[in-house]
Amino acid sequence: MSEAVAGLLSSLERVLLDAATIQRRVADMARRIADDFKGRELSVVTLMDGALFFVADLLRAIDLPVRLHTLTVSSYHGGTKSTGRVQLARALPFDLTTRHVLLIDDILDTGLTLATVRDRILAECAPETLRVAVLLSKRRPREREVPVDYVGFEIDDEFVVGYGMDYQGHYRNLPCIGILNPLHPPRP
Ligand code: IMP
Ligand code: MG
Repeated sequence: MSEAVAGLLSSLERVLLDAATIQRRVADMARRIADDFKGRELSVVTLMDGALFFVADLLRAIDLPVRLHTLTVSSYHGGTKSTGRVQLARALPFDLTTRHVLLIDDILDTGLTLATVRDRILAECAPETLRVAVLLSKRRPREREVPVDYVGFEIDDEFVVGYGMDYQGHYRNLPCIGILNPLHPPRP
């Protein structure tokens, strides 16, 4: 383990999901998705930046032809609570008409992000199939309900970091997922 990762680990309150557990679950999800979309080409739309590591591992494990599109959205703007506003470019930068689409995010929290993007895809394109996958789903009431087809792990309503997910830009390179210790802010 690098010194940088060891430093981040030592500032966590605790590890929630270790790297091996995450990798096993991602492989399971990839098998299910490949079965469900068998014989078709998958068009993946991933929300950046938090889902980057998840999508990189998931896509390499899905035994299907795949296209990848990315969208940058933000509702946190640096803190640990959603601002409730989802910022998205005016028009989607790709066309998904007649495609078999899998929309992917790291965490389902209030539901606003995925609901907004899903609505936009349905309003602007006519995909043949549209399914949704998240690595984590927080047990909490949603502000918007979103139909989610693939969930990696259900977790309690706590702020998590690692495996792509950040707090103020830090912790993305942790191979595990952990709970942030509010008493130990990240050291530069
Ligand atoms: P929602 O719109 O409230 O469902 O929020 C989803 C987005 O918020 C996700 O794309 C994540 O990027 C971010 N998010 C939600 N919870 C956490 C967390 O615990 N850690 C890091 N990012 C989070
Ligand atoms: Mg996000």
